[in-house]
Amino acid sequence: MSLNVVLLPGDGIGPEVTEAAVKVLEAACAAEGIALHTESHDFGGIAIDRHGDPLPAGTLDACLSADAIFLGAVGGPKWDMTPIRPEQGLLRIRKELNVFANLRPLKLLDCLAEMSPLKSDRVRGTDILIVRELTGGLYFGDREEGLERATDSLVYTDAEVERVTRIAFEAAKGRSGRLTSVDKANVLASSRLWRSTVNRIAKDYPEVAVDHVLVDAMAMHLIQRPSRFDVVVTENLFGDILSDEASVIAGSIGLLGSASLGEGTRGLYEPIHGSAPDIAGKGKANPIGAIMSMAMLLRFSAGAPDAADRIEAAAEAVIRDHVRTSDLGGTSSTQQVADAVVEKLMAA
Ligand code: NAD
Ligand code: IPM
Ligand code: MN
Repeated sequence: MSLNVVLLPGDGIGPEVTEAAVKVLEAACAAEGIALHTESHDFGGIAIDRHGDPLPAGTLDACLSADAIFLGAVGGPKWDMTPIRPEQGLLRIRKELNVFANLRPLKLLDCLAEMSPLKSDRVRGTDILIVRELTGGLYFGDREEGLERATDSLVYTDAEVERVTRIAFEAAKGRSGRLTSVDKANVLASSRLWRSTVNRIAKDYPEVAVDHVLVDAMAMHLIQRPSRFDVVVTENLFGDILSDEASVIAGSIGLLGSASLGEGTRGLYEPIHGSAPDIAGKGKANPIGAIMSMAMLLRFSAGAPDAADRIEAAAEAVIRDHVRTSDLGGTSSTQQVADAVVEKLMAA
């Protein structure tokens, strides 16, 4: 089979983790007999500099005709005060591709339990899938921006909640059968709609046990007893915040990858971290989140779940072998970690 992947390296550590993850993707595809075609396009701050637009038409066209899109990271201090921001390109591409469900898995490796700032007996066994709604909510509501008054609107329709909720229920069915829906239904109308839609869809999944947790309490429970959660579904902004919080449990934000999916098999894959301007250009970025995103790309957009499993196993073995970047207490560079993952893949 053939696989056409558009790469959007972006800004800061984006190009570094993209280079690392592409090495792993290339090795996995070669081993699997997949004819891989990749092409890079300008996106984010670099695209503002070169084209005056974070998502130039040529980049969008390429993404729309690809099987999958891999994105490094965008943003940085250079564009923080510009009238057009790199992050606007990110929101637009998610919307244009209609990838409404952002899957962010978090599995604590036993060998990293000591890296967690939480007590290791609390975090051991943590294996959570956060399903974050990605194309609605506060990010996409009407906005007014003035010097004396500014507003953002949080809008959800029943249909928007239903489609992401179904993905979460399907995921829960294939895992331990527990789904936690996170909202703020004690205050927000959009959350009350969210909760009633989740309860309606729950009737189609009698084998899944659902509970509802308010987002403020969830922020506490996640840290107090993360292993009690399996699949977590929530609206866009809550999912953004809770997933960065949850990444600390795993040991570093640099470990988490994500898959953003819509109706078909085309997906957008990105590590959950940002462009990390504080460590950009130093070879210090942890590439594991980007590599895990490539594994998800193979699983969901290439129909190659075995190759995905092999990448995940190789990445875990490399971490166990203490080939780690400095965020995990190691001395290896971004590319050294990637090379070690490739080596493990070839040896497997
Ligand atoms: P960030 O995720 O870039 O960095 C937060 C902290 O985590 C920093 O200390 C950084 O060094 C560290 N970190 C992040 N990724 C790491 C990795 N792979 N390995 C080791 N350490 C890592 O968040 P921020 O500093 O709040 O944001 C910086 C910029 O990135 C902003 O412009 C923001 O808008 C953007 N951003 C982009 C994305 C994206 O493109 N998907 C996501 C989040 C933030
Ligand atoms: C993420 C980021 C983005 C988001 C920003 C950069 C727009 O934080 O991918 O998690 O909030 O979705
Ligand atoms: Mn985020």
